[in-house]
Amino acid sequence: MAPVPPPLPARPPHASLATLRTFPAGIAFGGDYNPEQWPEDVQIEDIALMREAGVSLVSVGIFAWALLEPEEGSYDFAWLDAVVDRLAAAGIKAALAAPTAAPPAWLVRKHPEILPVTAEGTVLGQGSRRHCSPNAAAYREHALRITRALAERYRDHPALALWHVDNELGCHVSHFYGEEDAAAFRAWLERRYGTVEELNRAWATAFWSQHYASFDEVEPPRAAPAQLNPTQQLDFHRFSSWAFKDFYLALRAVLAEAAPGIPATTNFMATSATKLLDYFNWAPAMDVVANDHYLVAADPESEIELAFSADLTRGVAGGAPWMLMEHSTSAVNWQPRNRPKLPGQMLRNSLAHVARGADAVMFFQWRQSAAGAEKFHSAMVPHAGTDSRVWREVVALGGALRRLEEVVGSRVESRAAIVVDYEAWWAAELDSHPSQEVRYLDLVRALHRELWRRGITADLVHPSQRLEGYSLVLVPTLYLVHDDAAGRIAAAAEAGATVLVTYFSGIVDPDDRVRLGGYPGAFRELLGVRSEEFFPLLAGEALALDDGTSATLWAEDLRLEGATAVRKVDGGPLAGVPALTRREVGSGAAWYLATRPDAAGLASLVDALVAESGVAPAAWAGASDTAGAGARPVEPGLELVRRRGTDGTGWLFALNHTDRDLPLAATGTELLSGEAFGGIVAAGGAAVVREEPAPASPRTDAAQGEGGSLPA
Ligand code: GAL
Repeated sequence: MAPVPPPLPARPPHASLATLRTFPAGIAFGGDYNPEQWPEDVQIEDIALMREAGVSLVSVGIFAWALLEPEEGSYDFAWLDAVVDRLAAAGIKAALAAPTAAPPAWLVRKHPEILPVTAEGTVLGQGSRRHCSPNAAAYREHALRITRALAERYRDHPALALWHVDNELGCHVSHFYGEEDAAAFRAWLERRYGTVEELNRAWATAFWSQHYASFDEVEPPRAAPAQLNPTQQLDFHRFSSWAFKDFYLALRAVLAEAAPGIPATTNFMATSATKLLDYFNWAPAMDVVANDHYLVAADPESEIELAFSADLTRGVAGGAPWMLMEHSTSAVNWQPRNRPKLPGQMLRNSLAHVARGADAVMFFQWRQSAAGAEKFHSAMVPHAGTDSRVWREVVALGGALRRLEEVVGSRVESRAAIVVDYEAWWAAELDSHPSQEVRYLDLVRALHRELWRRGITADLVHPSQRLEGYSLVLVPTLYLVHDDAAGRIAAAAEAGATVLVTYFSGIVDPDDRVRLGGYPGAFRELLGVRSEEFFPLLAGEALALDDGTSATLWAEDLRLEGATAVRKVDGGPLAGVPALTRREVGSGAAWYLATRPDAAGLASLVDALVAESGVAPAAWAGASDTAGAGARPVEPGLELVRRRGTDGTGWLFALNHTDRDLPLAATGTELLSGEAFGGIVAAGGAAVVREEPAPASPRTDAAQGEGGSLPA
């Protein structure tokens, strides 16, 4: 088996933004600034408007390579000098970009081999952006050169706060199939496996005559007549994530050498929309984790997807504060129908990110383009100008963030963990599985959503991270799992946590090799169950369960081996077969969900798990005593999260996504208004309450371990 990666430290060494010497004070506020689109008088007005809005940090030069190096080796920094000088004079900091995400035409003309090649062999051309492979030697050489030139020129510039390396690495094209990519893949495989025999073992190449005599014979998983080797596909995901990280690290090394002491990051896309790169694996290479998030306009509960993305980003950052590098003030331009945000929504979105650990709130982009591919994408200064709702809301947001400065550096409080893993995501969604309808995120998101609706914050943690401190541990669809991770999950139950494992978990090892002896392999003993065969349900098919709920998608021929059936199938070929089981383990319990419950079934399961584990919402609508006993839950749609400082100060964020005023039991100063909190969060509004005194929450004593996002 491939070597197991060592566990991540419980707290990766990400600096609090407040401690980064180069950073602006408070919650950084700003956006992508692309002044190269505009004449000088507009750029001068930009600075005045930035000051009016309280902008403190802007990302500059992200796609400016062709203007910075119009011909090979000949640089034009004059325009950028003027931009950063103006920023510095106004006290605004710059996240200066390595502009490598859009290579200039002269480079493509000279080195067409840098262009991406798809699995089908199509070469993707220039004329947009990201038309380059991170494995192409010529691209890397030129990317490192322009980056070094920028670092040398601006390293002592007073505006410089941060290097913004490239942009959304892996966006648009994440997997590359050209000759240089194939060579890099082979070299990566050789480092991973050492010998080709080991690769043959891991990939099970004895099947279908896929045996390789040397690494030279191996190809990327290009378009093929039938199913490709699954472990080859899985390794190509791993390699593709590594290839971008390797490129990032090469750029970062140049920056560190040419401009020591300036932190570096790149903007992740840790959202429900993409599984391109393994950000848990990347995060230790970041001085601060940064993320981009865009609302899905068609999602009626887009605030829950936002929360998922923010919680995932915090998980990737190991609980440390992070930067929201991009979101939108209003509509985007790349969804089928691009609706503007409603009044107040941008403030709630921004504060939701802050509530969930962001210490920077930034946008794409500062001024809305008049032309070009993104002209219909909203910005901080809209087409309509400053006499506009968007601008007034931007100015108001700047003011709100200033009033929240004291939360910088604090941590989000959580006693519930959802174990998530990009490798499990990749592997679970390979082809030729029992059901192609099983999507990795389905139950991950459904369980997160249920907790969100109850005002319970979940940490999204990687399987290599420690679970001490969590009272509730949810393990959805963890198809691929390392032995040691399965051991940590079992140990959490032993130590008193309520653990839920859902179907299609623990099935394979890191080589995508089935764990033999019955399903769900790695978790069989913990759960006290065993299946000989899966029984995926057909489209439209539903199972009746004996508690009156129903289920779809998945079932198993499940036998009890120590567990108790909590719900059983009622009728049909699986009549009497357990669908939900529970086993007492040590001082905790391990539950197994062997089917996809309907809404009522999932809600009642989560109620039972919450009750058993004792995890509590961040606050109540009306409390009957300080421990919350007998308290009334808040209305659905009132988002609740608490950040807590090292001195114990709690800040309760309450975001009302409904059109009704909603009650909330909290006492203290509401920071947005500066007044004592009156017990109501206005329809569509937000409250951030500095709590006085710090509220006692149930089970705080049991949950002060290192794993949960609790104060250090
Ligand atoms: C991001 C990208 C930005 C901008 C934005 C529009 O993916 O980093 O440059 O294109 O999307 O929503």
